[in-house]
Amino acid sequence: MCSSKLSSTIIEIDKALDKFNDIDFSLMAYPDCSKELIMKRIEKLHTMGVEALYLSVDDKGRLSPTLVGKGGRGLVFLCKACGVEHVVKLRRTDAAVSSFQHEANMQTYANKLCIGPRLVAWDDDILLMEYIKGENLSSFLLKHHSLNKLRQIFSHLLIQCFILDIGGLDHGQLSDASKHVIVTQQGNAVIVDFSHSSIRRKPRNVTQLASYIKLVTARFGLCFHHKENLNEILREYKCSPSVAAFDRVLEGLDLGVTTARSV
Ligand SMILES: Nc1ncnc2c1ncn2[C@@H]1O[C@H](COP(=O)(O)OP(=O)(O)O)[C@@H](O)[C@H]1O
Ligand SMILES: [Mg+2]
Repeated sequence: MCSSKLSSTIIEIDKALDKFNDIDFSLMAYPDCSKELIMKRIEKLHTMGVEALYLSVDDKGRLSPTLVGKGGRGLVFLCKACGVEHVVKLRRTDAAVSSFQHEANMQTYANKLCIGPRLVAWDDDILLMEYIKGENLSSFLLKHHSLNKLRQIFSHLLIQCFILDIGGLDHGQLSDASKHVIVTQQGNAVIVDFSHSSIRRKPRNVTQLASYIKLVTARFGLCFHHKENLNEILREYKCSPSVAAFDRVLEGLDLGVTTARSV
């Protein structure tokens, strides 16, 4: 969403409060736009270690913080921390939850399994985390890619799902992975948004992502030859999620027996 030109404009966080008349910060407390809340959040970002906010020119021609994504619970902005690009997810004032505590705990858990953007700091309203530069899986899939490239992305994602399954975390939103996976320019697929995750539910990441892959390969007419007994293979995996059962899922989806054993 942000181009390199836009990313080059920044406001140092300790100067932001002096620039209230020049910069439109309203999205930082969306949709209420409460000035007090925005000021409180800017101060909090400062104490969390955010050094600067990246700015872009918005639709009305005003400078505003660069938005990299928007969901039902938060708006995600590009910022600088530890000298490099990071993002902050700011809780929407109309979000269904009153705190990011659960999401932060789930993301920390996922990070221990080396999954998801690294969470740096958080409070009830703010998550400061690693910036995953790339595009959502949905827009990535709209472009033409070789089957090998798609195989690589899908199998890499399924391996992460297997790690989450074995590690005991259910992401909760992978049956529609479109907006919850970012594909980087290097071809890595990163799972984001742990707001609906749970360590109490039985993890179903592999089977949920497998349904998504079945759906998108059919929708985009991609030449994957899924095995006829794929549903049975998925049922077996669901009953006992072993490395061997996972390999059969990869084979069943025509992704090849990759490397579950080498993870
Ligand atoms: N760490 C990140 N790096 C880059 N973009 C991100 C990151 N986290 C989220 N996004 C973008 O912001 C969007 C909204 O974030 P998300 O966590 O899904 O919010 P919500 O919980 O409100 O659904 C995502 O779809 C993604 O495009
Ligand atoms: Mg989301």
